[in-house]
Amino acid sequence: MKQKIQEIFAEKFGGEGTLYASAGRINLIGEHTDYNGGFVFPGAIDKVIMADIRPNGTEKVRVYSIDINDYAEFGLNEEDAPEAGWARYIFGVCREIQKRGGEVKGFDAVFAGNVPLGAGLSSSAALESCFAFALNDLFNEGKIDKFELARIGQSTEHNYCGVKCGIMDQFASVFGRKGNLMRLDCRSMEYEYFPFNPEGYKLVLVDSRVKHELKDSPYNKRRESCERVAAKLGVETLRDADEAALESIKDEISAEDYSRAKFVIGEKERVLAVCDALNRGDYETVGQKMYETHHGLSADYEVSCVELDFLNDVAKEMGVTGSRIMGGGFGGCTINLVKEELYTPFVTEVVKRFNEKYGHEPQIYDVVISDGARKWEE
Ligand code: GLA
Repeated sequence: MKQKIQEIFAEKFGGEGTLYASAGRINLIGEHTDYNGGFVFPGAIDKVIMADIRPNGTEKVRVYSIDINDYAEFGLNEEDAPEAGWARYIFGVCREIQKRGGEVKGFDAVFAGNVPLGAGLSSSAALESCFAFALNDLFNEGKIDKFELARIGQSTEHNYCGVKCGIMDQFASVFGRKGNLMRLDCRSMEYEYFPFNPEGYKLVLVDSRVKHELKDSPYNKRRESCERVAAKLGVETLRDADEAALESIKDEISAEDYSRAKFVIGEKERVLAVCDALNRGDYETVGQKMYETHHGLSADYEVSCVELDFLNDVAKEMGVTGSRIMGGGFGGCTINLVKEELYTPFVTEVVKRFNEKYGHEPQIYDVVISDGARKWEE
């Protein structure tokens, strides 16, 4: 990938720039909790977006996406927003840096990636974090701190891409560290690295390769439900709510809002239970909580789909320790905690049965927990 990016950079712009990369992410548990002030448990992975970038001495950005085979050119004022969806991520990052008083000048860039698109592995956060990190290094002497880099990516989603996401993906992409998951408290923003090396187990992603269209922004709708319930309870976020409080207003909210909040409140407890279980090396409990999360995401939060439920059922039938939808939902991957001896039989069976049912094979990715945003020096 590096060589190809550099060759194309030389071809399009002449000479070479500086290489930067940032990673996609997994999340062990804690889904749809970030925008509710709860806990998440992500890690960066060895799949990245990589960009070769060089200031060009003008006020224009010229950027080429190898994977989409598209070129965009735009200025740095609000009215210069490009049409192409992919270019809006980069434009958004530039604008969000400027809004915070940071410097961005014109630059040339070529980028590519191996984070699968639409798989729930946060390719968009990887793209945002890669450019946020790079523009901080190239134009701001690295003065913007890492939390702000993550927020720049998140605000890009909010203000230029229409997704009212939480902070998890950008946080994981910027803060990721090889071999470590991170537990982040999305209310206080305190975080802790957890070395993750579950002896005798593997983490495997099964990508359904389906992406259900997010018409009417169901993600944003979920968030609105949660905010309505929090407002009704008089708390800032559902982090400050418990089951008893929710029951006490059950008759005053819609059945749908009730189910959404019920999931979020349960999920908060599950993340903490998983942390305790990890500290004890109790992977059976970790796995059981993953199944509970899947059930909640499917039945109460309603962000699953038949393909993901099928993957989860096959995992359960085969005695896989834990399995659940990962990320926002509506397609993409399940994350599975599998005993080493079950790995090959599980992968073989799940690929075969999914193919028989849905007419295409799911993609299998082994998870390697890796570093986040960085200058690429390999
Ligand atoms: C998407 C969002 C995140 C988070 C997850 C669900 O990945 O970008 O902020 O809300 O969904 O946990």
